[in-house]
Amino acid sequence: MARVLVTRTLPEGGLDPLVAAGHEVVRGTDDVAFTPAELVAAVADVDAVVCLLTDRVDAVVLAAGAEGRLKVVANVAVGYDNIDVDAASRLGIAVCNTPGVLDETTADLAFLLVLAACRLAGEAERDLRAGQWKGWGVTQYLGRDVHGAVLGLVGYGRIGAAVARRADGFGMAVLHHTRHDTGLPGYRAELDTLLRESDIVSLHVPLSDATRHLIGRRELALLPRHAVVVNTARGPVVDEEALADALHEGRVFAAGLDVYEREPLVHPRLLDAPRTVLLPHIGSATQATRATMARMACQGVCDVLAGRRPQNLVEA
Ligand code: DGY
Repeated sequence: MARVLVTRTLPEGGLDPLVAAGHEVVRGTDDVAFTPAELVAAVADVDAVVCLLTDRVDAVVLAAGAEGRLKVVANVAVGYDNIDVDAASRLGIAVCNTPGVLDETTADLAFLLVLAACRLAGEAERDLRAGQWKGWGVTQYLGRDVHGAVLGLVGYGRIGAAVARRADGFGMAVLHHTRHDTGLPGYRAELDTLLRESDIVSLHVPLSDATRHLIGRRELALLPRHAVVVNTARGPVVDEEALADALHEGRVFAAGLDVYEREPLVHPRLLDAPRTVLLPHIGSATQATRATMARMACQGVCDVLAGRRPQNLVEA
């Protein structure tokens, strides 16, 4: 029996693989993120950690674990930019994530943001709730059509492709950009070309040094003025300050955001930006998907502890 630290509360049934394997589950008292110092202390006497993207598992944390008996860190998320995978690999600690199981759910939310941002649903609802809707008017809340628009996908992995399938149903033309030629229709080798040609841009790249501020002031300036920007990937992929300026100055039409550069902080100029729909990082947040993600992370831990290669191993 091993000791497994689970840093936050998981959805119902999420711990099942650990329980079935008879492992001891060690938990914090509240569903509150550990401070860096608390995490360093907590990893010192466990065999495994199941963590969330709010836990920064850096080289210091991993070294503290390696001095003890830490063998595996499993993130209940597909993105793992919160974990220093290179340091883990050097220290012989396996890293697992939750690929595949959240693609359709996250694509649903990306499409929700496409629709909500294009059709100004956020500000229309806010006005109505605030008692500021005085009755139907032919010039009110004039958004942009989604059907027939050109959707530019930046990143074309499983989630990007799932968004493209939804776009087909809306009669959209779909372009995509990735570093490697997909050989598929709609591929644009240059990001700049995709940005110039798209009415709506949706981001589906992981966060890395190469994608930090991938969409900055220069890239936003390439978009048509009627463009809509949607981000369900990671906040730092977009320069929030530059996007806020573009929205306030009417250089892009609208934005739909689920992720932010400094979560849970949201740039104040995004909070009051016009035609902007803001959600609190809920891309994968359905009961079924989050429970599956938790079970998958815990299963990865069980596999590593049993000496098996987990299906969700992250390679450095
Ligand atoms: C992830 O999995 O990386 C998402 O951001 C949360 O579901």
